[in-house]
Amino acid sequence: MQSSKHKKSWWKERVFYQIYPLSFLDTTGNGKGDINGIIKKIPYLNDLGIGAIWICPIYSSPMKDNGYDVSDYNSINPIIGSMHDFKELIKICKINDIKIMMDLVINHTSNKHPWFMESAKSKNNPKSDYYIWRDAKEGKEPNNWAADCGGSAWTWVESRKQYYLHSFSKYQPDLNWRSKEVKKEIFSSIKKWLDMGVNGFRMDMGNFLFKAEGFPDAPKKNRWDNRKYIHGEHLYANNPGIHKLLKEFKKLLVPYDAVAFGEMYFLTPESSLDYVAYDRNEIDLIYEYPIMDARGNWTEVKKQVRLYAEAFKDMAWNTLTFSNHDSPRSVSVFGDSEQFHDKSAKCIMTFLLTAPGTPFFLQGEEIGMTNMKLSGVDELTDIKMKGIYKDRVSRGESSQKVLVDLSFWNRDNARTPMQWSDKKFAGFSWNKPWIKVNSNYIEINIKKQQNNPDSILNYTKNLIKLRKKTRTLIYGDFLPLCPDNWTVYAFSRKLDNEEYVIVFNFASQDNNIIAPEKIQNNKAKLIFSNYIVKYDVLDILYLKPWETRIYKAKKHGEI
Ligand code: NOJ
Repeated sequence: MQSSKHKKSWWKERVFYQIYPLSFLDTTGNGKGDINGIIKKIPYLNDLGIGAIWICPIYSSPMKDNGYDVSDYNSINPIIGSMHDFKELIKICKINDIKIMMDLVINHTSNKHPWFMESAKSKNNPKSDYYIWRDAKEGKEPNNWAADCGGSAWTWVESRKQYYLHSFSKYQPDLNWRSKEVKKEIFSSIKKWLDMGVNGFRMDMGNFLFKAEGFPDAPKKNRWDNRKYIHGEHLYANNPGIHKLLKEFKKLLVPYDAVAFGEMYFLTPESSLDYVAYDRNEIDLIYEYPIMDARGNWTEVKKQVRLYAEAFKDMAWNTLTFSNHDSPRSVSVFGDSEQFHDKSAKCIMTFLLTAPGTPFFLQGEEIGMTNMKLSGVDELTDIKMKGIYKDRVSRGESSQKVLVDLSFWNRDNARTPMQWSDKKFAGFSWNKPWIKVNSNYIEINIKKQQNNPDSILNYTKNLIKLRKKTRTLIYGDFLPLCPDNWTVYAFSRKLDNEEYVIVFNFASQDNNIIAPEKIQNNKAKLIFSNYIVKYDVLDILYLKPWETRIYKAKKHGEI
């Protein structure tokens, strides 16, 4: 289990808040969020108590994938703001003691990056090996790899008479990390941002940077089987070269006490340690996808949390997250947004803020923003979802069925504008936003929740406050007190002679269990809950739908 023998670090203690800048707050009226919108809301974030923000890409970009297609690593996207705005944000965050983590998208660039435009011209220009180019094989693509956004992962360029590789869309050519020049250029940009005052990076597709030598075919051609094969055989990810590179990356960050946070796929708790174990000196934090990928299955979440805690012990630090800009909204997937919106959102938040690991939540999660209703294919804005739709329909699936699936798993769900108030466009902008506002903004919005002491927002704020002042909830040993498959669940966090027991009912019905021994016989006192608890510390826990409670063990002699 997670042990308390971890050295202190700011990125272990702070709650991270993810900002999707395009959808946060528009201060210019162009329907798109911007850096000044983030600046304007720093007092809000400060009041909420978060300690760090992860800002999705703000570099110059043609925005085919909303910034995950960078055309210049050294400048700010004019749609989102200016360098002056960003420096101002750094200043204000420093004053408010909020750390800034930038996104770092370096598996690929935009096809409009000047490096790519040069590289595509010929086989012998100075940037010719900046990307992954291959000759045709028998008049076709070099292999059968599938792109994440649908179709082949290779696109032909006539001027070079070669194919280039793109793990995502054709607008996002993969960089060739075997080129020393690529590394030099990107490391120099990273250093510029660090010198400016940035406190770390979330590395997009952190373990994808090197591809399998020789580019062998995957045994299956369609996108999903292709990915399954990747999982087993590591065609796109976890290839030789990656560890050496990440060690160099980390070296760059150490003098700044900056955090390296890796988005990494196709790993188990054990294999994650190859990247994240302290003695590897590669990355500090890793995204634990098996938890988000549990798709609402709490047995799986509990199992994964336990497996990570067991594997990491005192060798590495965990993270915890239920949603990001690529996933559905947490309350829609892991809770019951229809019947128990308020209680289930609070229950998820309690797990997030008390289980082991650095908690990350997405803008809007603090008020329980939900998935939206997708009325038709025209409403899809996301390049990946459009690609998947096209791919599946072209393979014979009915458009209706694909839309139903996408309606739930659609990445746009996480990207709808922040619901600041019940004003037109949810107070996000005074003009039509770039993406549809969720129609429930009249009911679910920040202003309304600010005025209600019992809201999800105020609950979250109080819970963050509790976590901040309670080292045990951060560094304490983690011990599950129930089997993973019980609906009512409990775990303990213990540090020195302090112990907390947190209980949950992950269901939309009442449930009860014999209380964990640690809280029986009046051995603990209730300090936090999402219901008014009438019968406290009895030997049987009667829990209402999505009820959660935090108990503190009494010290010897305490009444
Ligand atoms: C992962 C990012 O989270 C996602 O939004 C993006 O589309 C891909 N990487 C490609 O950069």
